[in-house]
Amino acid sequence: MPVTRKFYIPLGLAAMLSLMSGAISAAYSLDNKAFSQPSKYMPQNKKMDFLLGKAMFKKIWVSAPASTQSSDGLGPLYNARSCLGCHPRNGRGRPPKKGETATSLFLQLSIAAKTKKQKALLSLGKADHIPDPVYGSQLQNRAVQGHDGEGQLHIEYQPVSVDMGGGEKVTLRKPLYRITGWKYGAPHKDLQISPRLAPQMIGLGLLEAISAQDIISHADPLDKDRNGISGKARKVWSTEKQKFMLGRFGWKASTPSVLEQSSKALHSDIGISNPIFRTHYGDCTKMQAKCQNAPHGNIGWGGKLEIGKPLNDRLAFYTANLDVPPQRNITADQAIQGKALFTSLGCANCHRPSFRTAEAGKNSASPHLSGKTIYPYSDLLLHDMGPGLADGRPVHNATGSEWRTAPLWGIGLSKAVNGNSFFLHDGRARSLTEAILWHGGEAQHARDDFAALGKQDRARLLAFVNSL
Ligand code: HEC
Ligand code: HEC
Repeated sequence: MPVTRKFYIPLGLAAMLSLMSGAISAAYSLDNKAFSQPSKYMPQNKKMDFLLGKAMFKKIWVSAPASTQSSDGLGPLYNARSCLGCHPRNGRGRPPKKGETATSLFLQLSIAAKTKKQKALLSLGKADHIPDPVYGSQLQNRAVQGHDGEGQLHIEYQPVSVDMGGGEKVTLRKPLYRITGWKYGAPHKDLQISPRLAPQMIGLGLLEAISAQDIISHADPLDKDRNGISGKARKVWSTEKQKFMLGRFGWKASTPSVLEQSSKALHSDIGISNPIFRTHYGDCTKMQAKCQNAPHGNIGWGGKLEIGKPLNDRLAFYTANLDVPPQRNITADQAIQGKALFTSLGCANCHRPSFRTAEAGKNSASPHLSGKTIYPYSDLLLHDMGPGLADGRPVHNATGSEWRTAPLWGIGLSKAVNGNSFFLHDGRARSLTEAILWHGGEAQHARDDFAALGKQDRARLLAFVNSL
């Protein structure tokens, strides 16, 4: 059995540097359970909701009809059978190894708007992309018995050599994607794909609890302050609330809330109908009639849905209430010098160190997350990251090269939690150094200055990022 290592925070130092990601508590688990603790702000009387949500997160769905009605409805097309399958230990996924079937990295699909109707749909913004007519919005590479997964994803990596300050060399790997075995005929000839790695799950309710106004106030889409960094707030259509809201979640800030993101995952990744995305056949299109007409779990229990509102809400509650570990494993020198470099290189212009969540009254699902000072190291805005990271698949007003600033809290624990550390939206980076070297566009200066640092300063900066 793994031993839970407890790490005791040097309170004086941490408080002095105000580096904590939340209230100070006596002990934290820093092993593979580091991302699996309930929020330190969660009241005791919410524990049962958290545990029920956790059971939903772990639940392995089976195909309908099954004797366990509460667990059936999988697919027919799907990417994984549980949330945990892609977010192992609430951490991030990984790209498939050579020859392995992809799970926690999948492809989103779309085609460019060509017809008047398609263009009108996009300009309204209620849809953020036009799905492939046959394969829909996502490549589901798996299917229940009697159906075929849509196709298989293959990744090849090309080496890219980079010269660093002090004469060192780093080899990056540039991914090239290929899909083979299309099972439902040819996709559209102008198919666009966007690879997405499953991100870590911590602190999401806190990100949701920041007021939209606060986030929008840091946007500078026209770069009026001429610092080379713009930052765009994304407005997205909420299927749940039937109105436009600030986009916060996903690598392109495409979803407005944890509930909506988690319901979308049930629907498109697992094929489970729910109160927000109600079709029992997930992402199957009209051209996949056999899939649309297959047996399903929209019967009786759960209000004629494969998961009803009470459990769907608890699943989102669990997902929103995973604690952020405190800053750790850092010497005073690294913390001070590393943080100074983080600021002077311009990292903090996008990886915004702190926010305060909105005061009580604005957050009905998790009111206990109100009025907290948090350290996500993200502005939750979109930035142009240049051609190296572009996927060429725009969604509504987010271009193919724009990505949401990834929160850096907890990032140094990725290896402890998942045994690997693959970073960026497609997991191409195998280390923090590689992740930073892929930065371009608005972050080109920061990237170049990082590459030019001497060995010791680079180590300080990395120690700081690893401690977050
Ligand atoms: C097949 C893999 C897969 C499965 C299964 C899956 N996810 Fe995800 N999850 C992802 C990917 C990929 C993203 C990023 C999506 C994007 O960029 O739009 C994501 C993003 C999220 C986010 C947003 C996180 C953030 O930082 O923005 C939440 C919340 C989430 N998933 C919850 C869930 C829940 C709850 C389930 C189970 C119902 C689930 N996921 C199942 C792959 C998966
Ligand atoms: C212009 C805004 C911007 C600047 C400046 C910037 N970043 Fe980023 N950073 C991003 C965005 C956006 C992503 C996500 C990109 C992607 O996944 O394709 C990201 C991703 C990362 C990641 C990977 C996170 C993950 O979860 O995979 C790390 C690490 C990182 N940045 C560190 C830094 C450091 C260190 C600096 C300063 C040297 C820096 N960044 C400067 C916007 C920025």
